[in-house]
Amino acid sequence: MSAQSIEDLFVEGLQEMYYTEQQLTDALEDLESSSSSEDAKNAFSEHREETQRHVERLEEVFDSIGHEAEAHEDPVVDAMIRQHEEFVDGDPDAEALDRYNMLAAQKSEHYEIASYGTLTSLAEKLGHDDAADTLESILREEEQALDEVAELTEQFDQQTVEASQ
Ligand SMILES: [Fe+2]
Ligand SMILES: [Fe+2]
Repeated sequence: MSAQSIEDLFVEGLQEMYYTEQQLTDALEDLESSSSSEDAKNAFSEHREETQRHVERLEEVFDSIGHEAEAHEDPVVDAMIRQHEEFVDGDPDAEALDRYNMLAAQKSEHYEIASYGTLTSLAEKLGHDDAADTLESILREEEQALDEVAELTEQFDQQTVEASQ
């Protein structure tokens, strides 16, 4: 990132999230197909559809501020995806993989929440009201997705504890 002004910071942040959402669309498909838990599969599949819509909604945000939609490579999401691939390559058992997929999903949602929280606030500061509304509504969906996977994680860990007693 080489932003010089708050407006640059905002636009570059949008460009990174435009890239991130595209990468996460594919990553969520991998999480879905590699999970054994039906609940986890459903949660990842649902959020994948939302993620595809986030790509489109970011295009609306670019449009509303008079910028062409452009993706900028984001090393953070690339690193998260690479880390997940390395874990899968280690041939984990189904239970470990399910649990790791939940962790990977939580990491990406936390990252998106931090990013959209900042972008919403910057849009407000810059007077981009329509952009702020759209970004805030994406932020709410990320928060809901995090809650859902956190709940699944809790259930999963609880079952493991019960099974081992
Ligand atoms: Fe998203
Ligand atoms: Fe998300």
